[in-house]
Amino acid sequence: MVEAVLTEKVTVPKLRARKRERGSEPIVMLTAYDTPGARICDAAGVDVILVGDSVANNVLGYTDTLQVDAATMAHHVAAVGRAAPRALVVGDMPWLSYHLSQQDTVRNAAALVRAGAEAVKLEGGRQRLAMIEALSGAEIPVMGHLGLTPQSVHVMGGYKVQAKEQAAAELLLADAKALAASGCFAIVLEGVPDVVAAQVTAAVDVPTIGIGAGPACDGQVLVFHDLLGLNEGKPPKFVRPYAQLSQVAAAAVRAWAADVRAGAFPSDAETYHA
Ligand code: KIV
Repeated sequence: MVEAVLTEKVTVPKLRARKRERGSEPIVMLTAYDTPGARICDAAGVDVILVGDSVANNVLGYTDTLQVDAATMAHHVAAVGRAAPRALVVGDMPWLSYHLSQQDTVRNAAALVRAGAEAVKLEGGRQRLAMIEALSGAEIPVMGHLGLTPQSVHVMGGYKVQAKEQAAAELLLADAKALAASGCFAIVLEGVPDVVAAQVTAAVDVPTIGIGAGPACDGQVLVFHDLLGLNEGKPPKFVRPYAQLSQVAAAAVRAWAADVRAGAFPSDAETYHA
């Protein structure tokens, strides 16, 4: 195993080279949407911070990711960028920010780069090649995203595991090869069977980063709020919560509220005197 040097800045070329079959450690990618979140990721040695359009569900209270635009994403990318993380900062291109024209795509991606993103991520396979080419032409590194692509929720008829049938798996494999050939430096595989993720990972020379795609990928990504137990309700099957922070936070707020009501806050030590 090649050990990650956790003080060195993670760059696109370094990340691109991280295939497990060549002895690299699995890539660790986590979402973050603000400066404290980015600092936590960096303190924990995360390799890639994804400022995901999942900010819509996890922070802004929407039920899907279709509700955020390029300006909202730039706002959150900037907040993450201000943490100046060691991790590579990837800004998610929101729905309709890379669908209309190459010019529009480059302009929207440039807004994320100027806000602090070092690369962008977009969803979709071969239908995105022209946009990926335009971004590469503008020197903007692109991470692909295949399988369960949340921006296609209405086309998929819900958030369902993709590529379960042989024909769909073959299309996904062809998409992954096309993305890698077009210059994508990594590919997120979301919500696909483990065998399909393993096949794709073996077939492309750029790292795959899985979420609900089994253990064979070159890395794993989770949503910050899922990992830390900050969301309500039962998490999806692929999530392993490592903490229950919403309970911890509610207990702290409850304790403070009780102190205020009992006249026990603030104390003399917490009070300014003339
Ligand atoms: O927006 C997001 O959080 C993502 C991850 C699920 C990969 O795209």
